[in-house]
Amino acid sequence: MQRLVINASEIVVVPDPGRPRVGKEMRDLGIIRDGHIIVEGERIVEVGPGFERGDEVIDARGKTVLPGFVDPHTHLIFAGTREDEMMMRLDGLTYMEILKRGGGILRTVRATREASKEELEEQARRRLDTMLLHGTTTAEAKSGYGLDYETERKMLEVINGMKHPVDLVPTFLGAHALPPGRDGDEFIDEMIDVMSRVRHLAKFADIFCERGVFTPEQSRRYLMAAREMGLVPKIHADEIADIGCSAVAVDVGAISADHMVRTCDRSIKALADAGIVAVFLPGTPYVLFHTEFPRARKFIEMRAPVAIATDLNPNCFTENMQMIISLAVTRMRMHVDEAITAATLNAAYALGLGDRGSIQEGKLADIIVLNAPNRLHLGYHFGVNLVDTVIKRGRVVVKGQRHVA
Ligand code: NIG
Ligand code: FE
Repeated sequence: MQRLVINASEIVVVPDPGRPRVGKEMRDLGIIRDGHIIVEGERIVEVGPGFERGDEVIDARGKTVLPGFVDPHTHLIFAGTREDEMMMRLDGLTYMEILKRGGGILRTVRATREASKEELEEQARRRLDTMLLHGTTTAEAKSGYGLDYETERKMLEVINGMKHPVDLVPTFLGAHALPPGRDGDEFIDEMIDVMSRVRHLAKFADIFCERGVFTPEQSRRYLMAAREMGLVPKIHADEIADIGCSAVAVDVGAISADHMVRTCDRSIKALADAGIVAVFLPGTPYVLFHTEFPRARKFIEMRAPVAIATDLNPNCFTENMQMIISLAVTRMRMHVDEAITAATLNAAYALGLGDRGSIQEGKLADIIVLNAPNRLHLGYHFGVNLVDTVIKRGRVVVKGQRHVA
């Protein structure tokens, strides 16, 4: 079989203990200096010190090699943009006030209902191209801008039908907002029914549990129904207020609880005990001009598993995990090594994927080469794209910052 060899000055392994890394382990990246990786087909077959020869050789001497980023929380599929709402927020309106006036999520719902499958696909493809250029090789993608059967199904079909090097993992998010004039409990009943009709198109089910959106009781009922249908629960929790969503995550056996800006110490303890991954989305408080970010230091100290994600959506519009690493470091005081673990191995576990997120024998060959002498540049040299080369499932798909496949 064809051997692809990567020779690099710094290989960031992120060793996989078979679960997310927690606490101090998040800084153990298993760095190999002046080493090589051998890839056969889709998989990594060898990692070790010294340089090697091969049929195809990537010379990354003077450069840094990492596992491809896994983005475990995106709203990839949407129509229209909302740049004017950012200006409204500058003028003093809040995210929730804009939503209550029919803007925000509800506005994107109207645009997405009107868009054809082809339009949604075309826009998603462009975003995926950008993600890949910035080093993301796997992403989760949610529905949730339909709030009705037709559009939720259309969104999930686009996700499932997408042919692109970035692997996508689909999530049903029917309970993303309450359409105006609707009763919350009735709407949850309706979305449980929609879920039963689209469950074959999704791996996860998600809900926006928040004051003024869906209550913990409604979230529990919806996610329990998901479980019974074979979908794995996820939850948008504690973004604006801690109203008890972490307890719901524990009760329903969620794989992750996402946002976690306002989470109290007791909830962090409960999540840590249950091994639920807290997925931080620091891009969201950033664009909302909030000064409060998730308390990463507390989560790590309490050995709760943590990951980071873009939350890509028309409010928080970024495809770039390097930007999220920068925010994790500068706004949440995560060490770069913790942020790397959170963006690779732990992000893969937030999606239940044990076959990636680490440069280890037997793992998928999802690998990126940074134009930087060491990994610390990820938290230091900001606002630029440091990713030079991307290898996805053993194939070079980005070279010299350009798509080549
Ligand atoms: O995770 N907060 C709820 N849902 C998304 C935002 C979606 C939107 O504003 O369009 C989030 O931030
Ligand atoms: Fe989200």
